[in-house]
Amino acid sequence: MSRFIFPAWTNQLKVLIPVLLLGGAAYLTLLVAWGASPETTDVGYQPVQPVPYSHALHAGELGIDCRYCHTSVEDSAHANLPPTQTCMNCHQRVRTESIKLVPVQESFASGLPVEWVRVHDLPDYVYFDHSVHVNQGVGCVECHGRVDRMDEVWQHEPLSMSWCLDCHRDPAPHLRPADEVTDMAWQPREDRQALGEELMRLNNISPPEDCASCHR
Ligand code: HEC
Ligand code: HEC
Ligand code: HEC
Ligand code: HEC
Ligand code: HEC
Repeated sequence: MSRFIFPAWTNQLKVLIPVLLLGGAAYLTLLVAWGASPETTDVGYQPVQPVPYSHALHAGELGIDCRYCHTSVEDSAHANLPPTQTCMNCHQRVRTESIKLVPVQESFASGLPVEWVRVHDLPDYVYFDHSVHVNQGVGCVECHGRVDRMDEVWQHEPLSMSWCLDCHRDPAPHLRPADEVTDMAWQPREDRQALGEELMRLNNISPPEDCASCHR
């Protein structure tokens, strides 16, 4: 009977099975070690952008609210990047002679978007939704750092599984009133832990720790 399940020619393959199993184990070990090493968590990652756009100038000095450009951050899973039109609201009049703005003007003329390089990028098997976090009072600064002081955005947090879980297990010290989420310099007037616990109670906050919530 087994002749039909494993015909004779598979005998050579059977020799390979232990090799494959050992190889697989080694591969897994490497994968886990590689995944846990600091290089791959990308803290500090700061790609070169096609336009030297500065958050420190626009969000910091000029004080433009994050949501003026990242309009979908409260309503959807993804925070959009602004279309060129948003830049041109000002730059049709401001600094029109600047060579730094040439790619923006070209994009406006051609209708092709500026090719910004992605800074933060979770693996595809992770589910993350901005709106839930922002609406429950997790400020941008908790996950992105002081973007209003960065000339070019860099990754401030590891975005690893243990980083997500650290906050999910104890969110209180990371919470604030939802209308303060984009204020990078916000400080609580009262004890942060107590305020956080109060917000958790009022808004029924209990972040998930089960695998299926983040790996759907
Ligand atoms: C005037 C428009 C504008 C404003 C205001 C603005 N941003 Fe941005 N933001 C951009 C543009 C353009 C990019 C893409 C280029 C880059 O990464 O610097 C970007 C990129 C980012 C990124 C990186 C996205 C990625 O690729 O992973 C983060 C995080 C971010 N912004 C957060 C903020 C926060 C927080 C604020 C408010 C403090 C803010 N932004 C205000 C225009 C804006
Ligand atoms: C609300 C108005 C406003 C918006 C919107 C805006 N900017 Fe600006 N931007 C300014 C001002 C004002 C300055 C000049 C500040 C100064 O005089 O030093 C500036 C300066 C710049 C500079 C530096 C120019 C130079 O020669 O030094 C760049 C590059 C730039 N902006 C890119 C962008 C991009 C890209 C966007 C869209 C994502 C954008 N800006 C959106 C107001 C704006
Ligand atoms: C709880 C953590 C957290 C908070 C709070 C948060 N972000 Fe993010 N942000 C992330 C993660 C994680 C990514 C990468 C998402 C991905 O790769 O799918 C990201 C990506 C982005 C991007 C790139 C586009 C995208 O959606 O992938 C922008 C822009 C951005 N965030 C802006 C903001 C702004 C503005 C705020 C505040 C209003 C904010 N974020 C609050 C964690 C957060
Ligand atoms: C600084 C705190 C903090 C960090 C960091 C954080 N979260 Fe959350 N997360 C929360 C809070 C608060 C909620 C809201 C829980 C509620 O409403 O009960 C939440 C809710 C969620 C939910 C459930 C809501 C939904 O969309 O289904 C998911 C999934 C989630 N987070 C994924 C992530 C992932 C993935 C990361 C890491 C990339 C992450 N979170 C990082 C605080 C955080
Ligand atoms: C709060 C969100 C969250 C929860 C809950 C969660 N994960 Fe993850 N998980 C992540 C993120 C984010 C990554 C990506 C890490 C990276 O890119 O470094 C990840 C990565 C992984 C990986 C890839 C290997 C690694 O370590 O990088 C495995 C396997 C995994 N998760 C299994 C699980 C299992 C099993 C559970 C339930 C016990 C679970 N996860 C619960 C967010 C979560």
